[in-house]
Parts: sequence; C-alpha cells; structure tokens
Amino acid sequence: LPVQILVLLVAYLIGSVSFGVVVSRLMGLADPHSYGSGNPGATNVLRTGNKKAALFTLLGDVGKGVVAVLLAKWLAPSLGLSPLLVMLVGLAAFIGHLYPVFHGFKGGKGVATAGGVLLAMNPLHGLAVLATWLAVAFVTRYSSLAAIVAALMAPIYWQLFYGIDARALVVLLIAALLIWRHRENINRLLTGKESKIGGGRKAAP
Ligand code: G3P
Repeated sequence: LPVQILVLLVAYLIGSVSFGVVVSRLMGLADPHSYGSGNPGATNVLRTGNKKAALFTLLGDVGKGVVAVLLAKWLAPSLGLSPLLVMLVGLAAFIGHLYPVFHGFKGGKGVATAGGVLLAMNPLHGLAVLATWLAVAFVTRYSSLAAIVAALMAPIYWQLFYGIDARALVVLLIAALLIWRHRENINRLLTGKESKIGGGRKAAP
C-alpha cells in the first residue's frame, strides 16, 4: 500500500470519530441524532442546554481536523508528502466527519472539522474564514448561515491569498460538500424555521 494512501486512510479514521456522539455518551446525554436538527455537531448539542458538552464537541471536532493536518505536515518531509497531499489529508478527515465509519456513516456537516483543517493548513486563511463565521453568527445568530457564508468565502480568500492552485480546488470541494450537507438548513432558513444559536429545539429532526 503506498504510504500516501495509508496517510489518507488514517486521516479518514481520525475524522470518523464523531465527538458529538462520543461526548454525549460520556456525559450521559441523549444521542444528538435524536433531537433538534439531528446533527451530531456542537450547534445541535448546545440545544440540550449543556454548554460544556457543546464546547467539548466543538473542540474535539476542530481538534481532529487540526491533528490530521499537523500530523501530515510533520510527516511530510520524511514521507515525501506534497502540499497537495497534505490538503487532501484535510479533505479525508472532513469526509470522515461527514461519513464516519464508526457511526454507520451517519455524520455531521463538517463545519468545525473544516475549520480545524483550514486553520492547520494555513492559519492566515483559516483565521479569515473563522472571522467570517464569527461575524455572520454574531449578527444573525444562525450557525448554519454563518457556516454557509464562510464556506462561500473560503475559496475566494484562498484565491486572493495564494491564487488558483490545486489546493484551491480542494478548498472548493470542501466548501461545496459543506453547503450540500446544509441543504435542510437552507430550506429552514428560507422558510423562517431555522433555530438560532442556543435557541432550543425548533429545528425539525
Ligand atoms: O455545525 C453545523 C451547523 O452549521 C448547523 O447545525 O444542528 O443547526 O443543523 P444544525
């Protein structure tokens, strides 16, 4: 097995650990698939009212994206991994979060994990994307809308900072998948049924 494939596989497995599910289980909370939006992410875990559980979910899901990319960067010189391969490692971790092998392939929307991946990949770019998420979330109080706008901006920022390279296409792919995973949120936003951050269980499962 080529070492590149092995590294991608490990990143996918790291991404497959759904912290929303793991943290909820450890803290004796209901499975996040069973309430609110049904999404195993920090936003939905916050709908239980347990801020600590939501924070641990956020840190875990961001952290696994960071760990996967930093691990690839650290191994890159000795294994001869290209910068594109390192970015693909981030994509693999993100895909793991969306389609986790450990949770019957029922994963999340990838916002926190994509954030971690982008921050570890390129902190300046990652911070620009994070600032976009924070600004939209602060103004509108919609976690999903913040994620969608940040995802739309991510490839644009990349292009502004570094031009259009192969890695820009990977950023574009991550953004497209992330927005696709928010299609129910987009419906709810358009029909005024989306719940705001910390705003209880309004979203349909
Ligand atoms: O992190 C996912 C967020 O953008 C939306 O989550 O639970 O409101 O669908 P949720």
